[in-house]
Amino acid sequence: MPQLAYVNGRIVRHADASLHVEDRGTQFADAVYEVCAVLNGRILDWGPHLVRLRRNLAELAIHWPMEDGPFGLQARRLIAANGHADCLLYIQISRGVARRDHAFPDAAPASVVMPSVVMTVRRFDFAQRVRQLDTGIRVITAPDNRWGRVDIKTTGLLGNVLAKQAARTAGAFEAWLLAGEVVREGSSTNAWIVRDGRIITHPKGSSILPGIARDSLIRLASAAQIVVEERPFTLAEAIGADEAFLTSTTAPILPVVAIDDHRIGNGRPGPVTARLGELVWAEVARQTGWRA
Ligand code: PDD
Repeated sequence: MPQLAYVNGRIVRHADASLHVEDRGTQFADAVYEVCAVLNGRILDWGPHLVRLRRNLAELAIHWPMEDGPFGLQARRLIAANGHADCLLYIQISRGVARRDHAFPDAAPASVVMPSVVMTVRRFDFAQRVRQLDTGIRVITAPDNRWGRVDIKTTGLLGNVLAKQAARTAGAFEAWLLAGEVVREGSSTNAWIVRDGRIITHPKGSSILPGIARDSLIRLASAAQIVVEERPFTLAEAIGADEAFLTSTTAPILPVVAIDDHRIGNGRPGPVTARLGELVWAEVARQTGWRA
């Protein structure tokens, strides 16, 4: 079966899928995106992803005429057409195609610019993430040199890209981004530490991306009587923590066993992260029926 993509209302061969050279997404990163986990053909946390997408579109004043129902149907149609039970769904909406000019295109009724909508899917092995609960992963640190509104999930990701590449070069899974001494988040994940049985993560605001997996973990932890503190924490506090972990759509929860060259705890995944891992994957099973 050929790989398929969605471009502006049509499902086309992935190899033929393209956007116009004057798309504002390519010229200005004037575009927002979402990455959703699909397990057993079902989209995890679809509602929260839609809410975040709509908020981001509104923040950038990108005109978005499609209702949630038909949009969800199009996404599911693409997933079914590709035939992968377990995959990542990528959604990108740009302001559209217009002659290059920094300011928004003229939105007079005669020249309403339609947003460009692209969706792709790619197969993903979620079972590897369950196995990684036993081994954990390493992170490095890097300065957070992104713009000041990283709460908006735009495709302007060069700061994230360079930090992730630094992690890859160092043989680490992720880079935790520092503002001075404060750990904000990872290049594509949210960052957490555990101290005295409490879990701590940077508060929402303009300096982190409000992760869907982050919200989900807060709900699950609170329901299990695990205290959650949403407050800034420093690198020194993270290095001295009992445990550390990260969350995201592509890594629902992974233990962090080293930061730079410092071992966290005894250098093995800890009990609080293990308990949270059970809760996270039980929630995945509840929503999608998926089991490792
Ligand atoms: N990244 N922080 C950043 C900077 C991110 O890019 C992401 C998501 C997260 C976690 O958000 P969520 O739980 O909604 O996935 C935190 C996606 C997966 C990506 O860019 O591929």
